[in-house]
Amino acid sequence: MTLHFNAFIWPNGYHESAWRVVPDDVNGVLGLPYYAEIARIAERGLLDSVFLADNIAIAEYRATHLPQTQFDPISVLSALAAVTSHIGLIGTGSTTYSKPWELARRFATLDHLSGGRAGWNIVTTITPLAAANFGEQVHPEHADRYARAHEFVDVVTRVWDSWDDDAVIGDRENGVWADRSRLHAPRFHGQYYDVEGVQPFPRSPQGHPVLVQAGQSAAGIGLAARYAELVFSGPPSLEAAVAFRTDLHAQVVAAGRDPGQVSVLPALMVTLGGTEAEAQARADRLEELASPEFRWQNALYTAGFDPDAFDPDAPLPADLLAGPAPSSRAGQLFSAARAHPDAPLREIARQITGGAGQMHFVGTPEQLADHVIAWQDAGAVDGFTIMGSTLPYELAAFVDHVVPILQRRGQFRTEYTGSMLRDHLGLARPGVR
Ligand SMILES: Cc1cc2nc3c(=O)[nH]c(=O)nc-3n(C[C@H](O)[C@H](O)[C@H](O)COP(=O)(O)O)c2cc1C
Repeated sequence: MTLHFNAFIWPNGYHESAWRVVPDDVNGVLGLPYYAEIARIAERGLLDSVFLADNIAIAEYRATHLPQTQFDPISVLSALAAVTSHIGLIGTGSTTYSKPWELARRFATLDHLSGGRAGWNIVTTITPLAAANFGEQVHPEHADRYARAHEFVDVVTRVWDSWDDDAVIGDRENGVWADRSRLHAPRFHGQYYDVEGVQPFPRSPQGHPVLVQAGQSAAGIGLAARYAELVFSGPPSLEAAVAFRTDLHAQVVAAGRDPGQVSVLPALMVTLGGTEAEAQARADRLEELASPEFRWQNALYTAGFDPDAFDPDAPLPADLLAGPAPSSRAGQLFSAARAHPDAPLREIARQITGGAGQMHFVGTPEQLADHVIAWQDAGAVDGFTIMGSTLPYELAAFVDHVVPILQRRGQFRTEYTGSMLRDHLGLARPGVR
């Protein structure tokens, strides 16, 4: 089984100190050439896809510590479609702060313009700061967000299915562009959404853009089991990752789906070097520059809290800890705080891993190739979402040095066998429901 790789695009790299060590102009991450270079490197390495996150509210502390480049992912990916030919283009879209008809249209547009390379990372949005940006009084609770997400994804797929694949007949003689009888309006009236009409253009090349999910809570995994074809979450230890994928597959089967149609590519931050010592020195340099101020604020923000409301030199408030954790990341933070009830927030935050809960691999290309193969052989993963600690350096090193090793060992493709993202991932094209 070939491995699969998704390249996570982030300004200057995923490590919080990346922007301080790369030689590039600090404003480079605001221009298309930065994104185009990363996408071209990923395509040169025959990776499955590139990926853009979406954060629809930023806490202002982030502007101090990190480059802020949260553009609209579909706009960026549409531009990348024009400068690449094969690489998959996965963007994030929120079910809590979008309308399903509108989101369906945007991702299907990308699928058309890219010739079938679009994917949608379905998120429910953790940060409550989003509510105020969208004119909402409250950020819905975790369970409510996931209940809406199920209905949302269902409606989106109905919109995508509102044209039969053969609806366009282009009959010039009789003046019939499309056969109206092959259109099927959703006419959906559910608990949360009402969506009446058809998509404003024919069905897209993949039928459905590839559905992706990265939730780690029980509800998140439940949504993945029902809909996802690609899963970006997974715990950082090998044993836990095997259990995670096994459980996910069992839930996929229970949902009446084929586990062979669901790939697990957990996030893995990588720092590479020609020797172990060189890689370690690069990682140490990034860590030396890491800001303790950023750490505690980021631990709160990624768990779904507003850091401005907390005192870093006091323990987490007891009344907060007594209540339910609003996300899986908050659960990790609460467990660390309960284990050390007198420790100030600063200390607790040090025990929490990076933004997406990923682990940090530091080593040589050979060591990374061994790691990837060992995890695949153990049944923990189908590949990884590669987060270069610095970009584009780490991605170029992965493509130029890790990919050839995997190819020599027969574990990775030596050419693209199709042009669509579904082809790269071995996913079936969904028929019209
Ligand atoms: C690789 C990866 C990428 C993610 N990208 C986003 C993102 O772009 N926007 C977002 O709001 N959440 C993102 N998340 C967070 C998850 O989608 C999910 O919201 C989070 O894990 C909390 O949900 P849970 O409580 O079900 O785990 C990402 C997570 C991972 C592992």
